[in-house]
Amino acid sequence: MLAVAVLAAGKGTRMRSSLPKVLQPLGESTLLERVLKSCDHLKADREMVIVGHQANLIEEHLKDIEGLEFVLQTPQKGTGHAVKQLESHLANFEGELLVLNGDVPLLSPKTLERLIKEHRDHDAKATLLTAHLVDPKGYGRVFTDNKGYVTEIIEERDCNNDQKKNTLINSGIYCFDWESLKEILPQLNDNNAQGELYITDTIAMLGKSRHLEVEDSKEVNGVNNRKQLSECEEQLQEKIRNHWMDEGVTFIHPSSCTISENCDIGKDVIIEPQTHIRGKSKIGDECHIGPGVILQDAFLGKRVKVIHSVISMSKVENDVCIGPFAHIRPDAYIEEHCRIGNFVEIKKSRIGKLSKVNHLSYIGDASLGSKVNIGAGTITANYDGEKKHKTYIGEKSKTGANSVLVAPIHLGNNVTVGAGSILTKDVPDSALAISRSKQLLKENWKK
Ligand code: UD1
Ligand code: CA
Repeated sequence: MLAVAVLAAGKGTRMRSSLPKVLQPLGESTLLERVLKSCDHLKADREMVIVGHQANLIEEHLKDIEGLEFVLQTPQKGTGHAVKQLESHLANFEGELLVLNGDVPLLSPKTLERLIKEHRDHDAKATLLTAHLVDPKGYGRVFTDNKGYVTEIIEERDCNNDQKKNTLINSGIYCFDWESLKEILPQLNDNNAQGELYITDTIAMLGKSRHLEVEDSKEVNGVNNRKQLSECEEQLQEKIRNHWMDEGVTFIHPSSCTISENCDIGKDVIIEPQTHIRGKSKIGDECHIGPGVILQDAFLGKRVKVIHSVISMSKVENDVCIGPFAHIRPDAYIEEHCRIGNFVEIKKSRIGKLSKVNHLSYIGDASLGSKVNIGAGTITANYDGEKKHKTYIGEKSKTGANSVLVAPIHLGNNVTVGAGSILTKDVPDSALAISRSKQLLKENWKK
């Protein structure tokens, strides 16, 4: 039997945040969600989260995870005290207990598998994950004997200067034999710099404890402050970008771009600097994105070009060109070969194939046929202060510069709208609609 317990009751004072530390976002999920995800595949028999500080918030955040048990720790008197709260919950449990720190978010599922295997192969009482760090500052130091057993873990605050030089650190990830741990938990004491019960003290008490050094020390980076959070974000981003480069995506300046873990990018896509791809965005082959683009849950077909623009929750078909400075808002559907130019905003509208909306327009709640040409400054006046209304423009129609189409309104196919018109009535196929005051001309106005 395997039980997993994630320590998540602490406040995270060093973050200086009103959020509990484990709910800080990293990429598009929280630290705690990441930790839970890293052990998902182990299919543990019991899965527990130890909560305390702002427990309600954390329980609410994880309420959709089936079978997850919440164990309350109040007050929070250290990581050993947190594990002590499991005594009653695991009273009749026999097997291994995997303990994970809720603030170590980059752990790979494979590493946890290796940890459990190492533990079983050596029939140890406890096995912990360690790493050699160039800068071990802030971490507990791990001391071993010459047979690979761990003799002691000393927190940095409790280390003397010599002990601080040890670069082997405790990651805060442990596999315990629960029955052995259970027996020694009552003996934990708070004789240390913080006056807390330390889970790390159990290692020496258990005697037969081993450690496994991780292959990539970045996996066990802990998050105690904002700087460490940003370092984890950087590592995560680097990993995602490297993945897409392996898959055939070009980044001109990778470190200036951020990419969500949930997106999908085709082959021979070029991503220019300062581009951010968020949510479940999907980008087809040979697109050229950026510089300066934000995509949020955007679906792009093949060979789409976007520059200095924002596209959210919208679908753009093959061979469309967008930008610079376009804002494509939710529920836009832009068909093949359209051209959307500068200072154009499109919302909840279909733009038929081969249409052009090139300059300074707002198209909202509209449906445009194919080959429509929207003149500079054309506005669909879709909102009367209470309700939104629809605009329909048939194929091959053309609006002059500065037209206002007051919705609801229906323009047929092949319609021409004169520049500067304010239209409030429908226009039949092939008609010219023009509504503007006549030009007055006074000759010789100035002598
Ligand atoms: C801990 C380890 C240290 C290790 C480091 C790895 C101890 C005593 N020290 O130090 O050896 O190098 O992690 O990142 O364990 N928590 C509770 N209840 C509490 C206190 C903390 O649930 O009463 C939770 C926190 O929410 C957090 C985790 O335990 O998720 C670790 O606590 P933290 O205070 O960050 O420990 P470190 O000082 O980083
Ligand atoms: Ca920590």
